Parts: sequence; C-alpha cells; structure tokens
Amino acid sequence: MGSYTNGVVGDQSGASNGGGGAAAVDKGVDFANYFCTYAFLYHQKEMLSDRVRMDAYYNAVFQNKHHFHGKVVLDVGTGSGILAIWSAQAGARKVYAVEATNMAEHARELVKANNVQDVVEVIQGSMEDIQLPEKVDVIISEWMGYFLLRESMFDSVICARDRWLKPTGVMYPSHAHETQAYYGVDMGALTKPFSEEQKKYYLQTSLWNNLHPNQVIGTAAILREIDCLTASVSDILEVRSNFLSTVTLPNTRLCGFAGWFDVHFRGCKEIPAQKEIELTTAPSVDNGTHWGQQVFLLNPPIRVTEGDKLNARLNSILDSYLPPFRNRYFIE
Ligand SMILES: C[S@@+](CC[C@H](N)C(=O)[O-])C[C@H]1O[C@@H](n2cnc3c(N)ncnc32)[C@H](O)[C@@H]1O
Repeated sequence: MGSYTNGVVGDQSGASNGGGGAAAVDKGVDFANYFCTYAFLYHQKEMLSDRVRMDAYYNAVFQNKHHFHGKVVLDVGTGSGILAIWSAQAGARKVYAVEATNMAEHARELVKANNVQDVVEVIQGSMEDIQLPEKVDVIISEWMGYFLLRESMFDSVICARDRWLKPTGVMYPSHAHETQAYYGVDMGALTKPFSEEQKKYYLQTSLWNNLHPNQVIGTAAILREIDCLTASVSDILEVRSNFLSTVTLPNTRLCGFAGWFDVHFRGCKEIPAQKEIELTTAPSVDNGTHWGQQVFLLNPPIRVTEGDKLNARLNSILDSYLPPFRNRYFIE
C-alpha cells in the first residue's frame, strides 16, 4: 500500500531500477517519502488491522498449501513478517523475507516468537540490491497502492520476479484489475477558493475516499487487467483506457469517478489455485479496506439519469509536480 496522512497519498516514485528500465532510484527521496513510514509499527499495524486484506492473504495461502508445501518462497517487502510466517506455517521449506526498513528487526523478532526461524530468513535491504542463494517457487507480496498502481511497489515485485522466480513459479497475487465507476455526492458546500484550489490541484489528480456503495451511481468498468507473471514496468507506468458506464439511478448528479482495484490469487497455468481468492477494494459497507477508493472529481457536476450511457477515457501521466500531485489524470 502507499503511505498516507489525512487522506493524502504519499509517493514512491521511481522506487526501483528493476525489470524494464524504470527511473533510477533516488533513495534519499524514497526514504523520506515512503520507506520511513513503513519503519514504524503504527503503520504496519494499520495494515495488519485491515481484515479484508488479511483474510484474503490468509485464505489464499492456507487454502492453497500445495503452492507452499516444501517450496522456496520470497516475500517482497515483508514488513512485520506476517506473509513470510504464514508461508512457513503452510509448509514452505525456506522463506526469504526481504524488507528495506528497520522493520526487518521486528520481523526477525516475530519470526522467532512464532518458532519459524529455521525456515524464515529475514534479509534487510532493498529488493533491487539484495542477492539470494537460489531461485524461488513462489513470490508473495502485498504491493498494491491506491487505485492499485498509484505509488505502488509493483515495479520492485517485477524486478524480483525477473531475477528470482523459477520459470514454473507462482505469483501471490497472480492477477489484478483496476476498476472505475461514477459516483454522486453533494458538493454544494464548496466555497469559491476551495473550488479554485480544486481546479488547480485536485481535479487533475485523485483523492483518497471510502465511498458508501449508495454513492456509486453507475455500472463499474474494468480499466485494465494485469497478469503479475508477465507485466513489465512499462506496462504499468501510465494508464490509457476507454470505458463505458451506464447510470443506474434516476435524476442524480455525476460528481466524479471512483477507481479501485481487485487482486486475485489464481496460481499459474501449470499449478492453478485449489481455491481462488479475491481481494476487492470496491465501495462496501462492511468490508472496506485501508486502500479505500481514489476519486477523480468533476467540476461542475453533471445532471444525469438512469440509463444514460457515458463513454469516457482516462489517461494518466507522470509529471514533475511534488507528491501527491505527481500522477496527473485526464478524463475525457
Ligand atoms: C504494504 S507493506 C506490506 C508489509 C507486509 N508484507 C504485510 O503484508 O503486512 C510493504 C512493505 O514493503 C517494503 N518495501 C517496499 N519496497 C521495497 C523494496 N524495494 N525492497 C524491500 N522492501 C520494500 C516496505 O518498507 C513495507 O514494509
């Protein structure tokens, strides 16, 4: 996940030099903007408290033990060590748990406290820099950023995959979807300066929100699908996608677009999952996640009614602005 404060998304731009020629790492900037938050337990605790996230990974591992039993696993960005420990408990022969920050020390403690220190080896370092003594059967990682790829660490996972995954290896998760739908909220209380600020900054980027499903007023459309086994860094850098959505409510206002993602644990063609698990971050009353949704506001809102069809195109580019305004989005 990306780091955030007060609903504003942090940035991990250029976090890797791996697989496919992404921008060179500026580790100083990375550390300030991203890794430092992960070195604190409060932030790891926030992720560990996300029930939907935890259940999905837990079920993906323990309902597919055949992927782990007797296998070598790489956990990219182990944080507190939770996914590495579960992999060991599911029968892995060896787990390499790589973590860039000092959280690696806590991971070591947790590994020992759970008596899996003979299986799990915590390695502190950047995934792009470290060496492993062998190739691995499984790469497990929780790499997803807001709206999937915004400030995500997927490029580090791609780098790990290209360097260390056996040709027959399995990615956990294996597939990801970015999804978009319309939503309506009352923006009547906006003041003029607020609206100007919106035009200048927020209308060209996206903001964190946890929407109620009732706020979604149109059908959802999948913007793109990513196969984690084959995607390259250039595939994920920018979004260019046409999508069609139909308004599902009578006489309402279209105030913006909401984007979220799903990831799937399907194993691979040769060794499919016995039980396919989905982790979705769609608007939900009971199953919200810390990722929430990213909203792209429209100003002014548009009057729409049930059955209206909207053809739209979302383009994103990486700009030279400071985070969180670095990713600029254009909806036509
Ligand atoms: C979203 S957290 C997930 C932590 C843990 N795996 C979990 O599921 O609770 C991502 C972790 O990956 C680490 N990380 C991100 N990029 C990394 C990289 N290139 N090399 C090593 N660790 C990295 C971060 O410091 C952070 O602790």
